[in-house]
Amino acid sequence: MCGIVGYVGPREATDVVVKGLERLEYRGYDSAGIAIIEHGEFQMRRSVGKLINLRRRLHEEPTTGNQGIGHTRWATHGAVTEANAHPHHDESERIVVIQNGIVENYLELKQRLIAEGASFHSQTDTEVIAHLLGRYTSESNDFIAAFGRVMGELRGGNAVVAMDRTQPDLILAARIGNAGAVVIGEGEGESFVASDLPAIVDYTQQMAFLEDGELAILRPSGVEYRTLSGAPVTKTLTTVAWDPVSAAKGGYKHFMQKEIAEQPRTTTDTLRGRLDIEAGRVDLEGLTMTDDELRGVERIYAVACGTAWHACLVTKYFIETLARVPVEVDYGSEFRYRAPVMTKGTLVLALTQSGETVDTLAAMAEAREHGVKSVAIVNAIGSQATRVADGGTIYIHSGPEIAVASTKVFTGMLMAGYLFGLRLAQARGTLTPAEISAHAQALIEIPGKINAILKDISVYDQLADLYHHATDMLYLGRWANAPIALEGALKMKEISYIHAEGYPAGEMKHGPIALIDERMPVICIATQDHVYEKMLSNIEQVIARGGRVIALVNPDDTLVRSKAHHVIEVPHTTPLLSAVLNVIPLQLFSYAMAVRRGADVDQPRNLAKSVTVE
Ligand code: G6P
Repeated sequence: MCGIVGYVGPREATDVVVKGLERLEYRGYDSAGIAIIEHGEFQMRRSVGKLINLRRRLHEEPTTGNQGIGHTRWATHGAVTEANAHPHHDESERIVVIQNGIVENYLELKQRLIAEGASFHSQTDTEVIAHLLGRYTSESNDFIAAFGRVMGELRGGNAVVAMDRTQPDLILAARIGNAGAVVIGEGEGESFVASDLPAIVDYTQQMAFLEDGELAILRPSGVEYRTLSGAPVTKTLTTVAWDPVSAAKGGYKHFMQKEIAEQPRTTTDTLRGRLDIEAGRVDLEGLTMTDDELRGVERIYAVACGTAWHACLVTKYFIETLARVPVEVDYGSEFRYRAPVMTKGTLVLALTQSGETVDTLAAMAEAREHGVKSVAIVNAIGSQATRVADGGTIYIHSGPEIAVASTKVFTGMLMAGYLFGLRLAQARGTLTPAEISAHAQALIEIPGKINAILKDISVYDQLADLYHHATDMLYLGRWANAPIALEGALKMKEISYIHAEGYPAGEMKHGPIALIDERMPVICIATQDHVYEKMLSNIEQVIARGGRVIALVNPDDTLVRSKAHHVIEVPHTTPLLSAVLNVIPLQLFSYAMAVRRGADVDQPRNLAKSVTVE
């Protein structure tokens, strides 16, 4: 979602800011803008659409200066127009502001400002921040105090960065609530701020993360941290070892294609150092819960959004089967509004790639308020979820995922969810060391099996040739593969814009069957397990109504093969772990369809990688 970059130091600020924004493109946005201070005046350039348009603007009307801020906007308040793009300035054009999040009380503030004579140039909530800041700064002539005061008046989750053109060499940044990360980079004689590490990691690896209610004062000579009311805050800098090259496309046409292909490595990385096959033990280094605490867990709420929510649904099967603990799966956006029953034995398990999804963070906060511990399964190092999770974090270690549609992080989440299930089983004694060892063996064979699936991908192009005109698709699966059907359908709609629905196959006859005719491709997950025969009956029902069946089968399958119109082979594994393998062909199929339809695979319309608004 919205990207933020700010720079003050000896370099050309325009270059640093625009390059930084490009590194954040994966988050999804619909307009962009920058403000540079040049000889005490603001140079603002804004444009609708992709950053290439802003680059064109800058080519026609270049900006120069050593201090600047920039923003990529994902519209919330007001349409996608140049006037609504950030930065926004106050009436006297002394202050500029960029914001990530939503100012929940903006209408109230706006009405107050209008009553005081202010006139607005945009429909955004952010413009109220600029106006307020302009007023308070001229009243007090203290930009820093005024900034703290304004932030104190905002309600909601907000990350805000501002500059005052009369105060050279100074940028202010603050975070309220969970509007997404505010990362501060401290270089030699230069300072940076961004909403995510990749934007600035090329220049410095010394980073600090702002907490709720903290403010950073950036100067070339260094950064000072305070609370909004001005009390000093001591921050420990983290050295981030993030190789910027690994974020580049590396020969692939799209990031999504690269990320799908990386899965043999990334699933290995999730397991690395965590399994002792000989002893039949699992060790999750970031999990701070003791064996006693793990034994005390009576119920788990698994919470997440989007693809991570599907990972929760699969993890439910893992944990319930391995550790015999009941798991309820919730959407982050629903959890806190439904007054969930939280008792002493409750644990919240949050799955989040970014660690910054506001709805998931809100669910974790709800748990904390009820004295319930949370454990987070996260990809982004140092993100907010990792700091809120008082039961510890299980990192997925998948590396940066740039494509908006999640692939390698999904399989990473499944591997981590499985490890957590085994760890619970170990503490609770529901599995013997010998059984854990057998599960561990099956886990370590997964990366090689993913590799085998990735070897022959010509079938997906052939299927895309046949089906790219489809307007609707149905995905069916059962048991641990029912959520994989949902994930397959989500992937298809996200990147190819084909309407697709996922269903537990047994539910098909209660509604979706009405839609089936010869124009409807139906993707059936039919690898062998204890529900294989039920799946076979469902396939017969689809065929009887003229539906076109594309089935996922094991190599030795004969029954489904004799019925389906097309089959895709998936290696054998354990029934539970088949979920991890079966999603890979569905990712590849969506990718092939999206490419065939000429869609913007990595940055699908309207979607954002990290959703920091409710
Ligand atoms: C957005 C992204 C999805 C992601 C979801 C949750 O909708 O487009 O790919 O699954 O947010 O994000 P998280 O960072 O919490 O996993």
